[in-house]
Amino acid sequence: ENISLDYSNSFVREHELRHLEEYISLAHHILHEKKGAGSEYLGWLDYPKNYDIEEFKKVKETALNIRKNSEVFIVIGIGGSYLGSRACIEGLNHSFYNQLCSEKRNGPEIYFVGNNVSSTYIFELLELIEDKSLSINVISKSGTTTEPAIAFRIFREYMNNKYGKEAKDRIYITTDKEKGILKEMSKNEGYETFTVPDSIGGRYSVLTSVGLLPIAVAGIDIDMLMEGAKEGMEEYSALDIDKNYSYQYALLRNILYRKGKDIEILASYEPSLHYFQEWWKQLFGESEGKDLKGIYPSSANFTTDLHSLGQLIQDGKRNIFETTINIEKVRKDIEIKKEQEDLDGLNFLSGKTIDFVNKKAFEGTLLAHTKGGVPNIIINIPEMNEKYFGKLIYFFQKSCAISGYLMGVNPFDQPGVEEYKKNMFKLIGKPGY
Ligand code: PA5
Repeated sequence: ENISLDYSNSFVREHELRHLEEYISLAHHILHEKKGAGSEYLGWLDYPKNYDIEEFKKVKETALNIRKNSEVFIVIGIGGSYLGSRACIEGLNHSFYNQLCSEKRNGPEIYFVGNNVSSTYIFELLELIEDKSLSINVISKSGTTTEPAIAFRIFREYMNNKYGKEAKDRIYITTDKEKGILKEMSKNEGYETFTVPDSIGGRYSVLTSVGLLPIAVAGIDIDMLMEGAKEGMEEYSALDIDKNYSYQYALLRNILYRKGKDIEILASYEPSLHYFQEWWKQLFGESEGKDLKGIYPSSANFTTDLHSLGQLIQDGKRNIFETTINIEKVRKDIEIKKEQEDLDGLNFLSGKTIDFVNKKAFEGTLLAHTKGGVPNIIINIPEMNEKYFGKLIYFFQKSCAISGYLMGVNPFDQPGVEEYKKNMFKLIGKPGY
């Protein structure tokens, strides 16, 4: 049992992989020998093996403490500073985690803020958490990002009003180890801090304290998550593209891109993977979309979106390819029972399960989209647990780095993101802009 990849419906022929195999080898060496663009941001590459054990221990202890003393946990961050933890929490925990009664949830409700500038969202979140005990984690590598900074100002006031001097014991900051406003503020106010390593950019940071603290607060086993990532780190370092599915995926995307497929849809039949798809979009979009190049990463949740986007995928412009995350064994399945009177006409399904129908929907969609000329890549995951989640994170991170080098871009910078920030700073009257 392992993560596997099936490209038999991608219209890519075996020899096409062979013709480009050497480029993978080149990208691998550039990456591992730290000779490529952005090589100062390769801390994530061996992080599952070389992570800071003391910091990891502190994450676990703090999470335990928060789980004991807080009914609500607020995560303030944007982009790489929140998508990974949200992906993991929503992907692995109960679909209705926040709505469960506290005995069943067995941990605080978790909400994310500071990932938009919606006053309504912030206001209504404050209304929701009224009267509940609370801890917050502010995550910002730079400390200067406007969205989380504004949210923190509002929540800081709320915490100070609610807890007075004790507020500082419920505010946790994840930021640069020595620089920035948040570090400064933590020293002055006495907030506990966690470190975003210098050599790891936001979108590659889910396995550092950035992702791990919220994930551990949600009761997820971060040891197993790291174990899975470590397995990925070993497996996805092999140069043989027939065995290294992470590299194979990078190569397939590149071949399809060269054929004019410049939109990729990451599809899933499990709604709980919605934020995983969002994380993936950021990873690939920010890493590859530059210098007037890039595959546009989009996502679809099936079967929901088959009733909306399905038409375009089937019959629209042929510039799309699909990658489907297929969870082989679902967390929970439900048997469809036989009814005496077959009023809804569904007795033909009795004895089958709902996941059986979901898998057939997937098979049917695959056949239809392939017939419509949409290349399909399938990534099979035996089941969604901590270990496979950690491994899948590493799978995509590695693949993205290789894919970026194949594309001839720096996969570790994001100059384009700065443009809107500068405009906004000017427009809101930030001094110096
Ligand atoms: O991937 C990235 O670098 C970005 O998406 C950042 O994570 C995002 O802009 C937030 O930055 P910061 O953590 O500095 O607040």
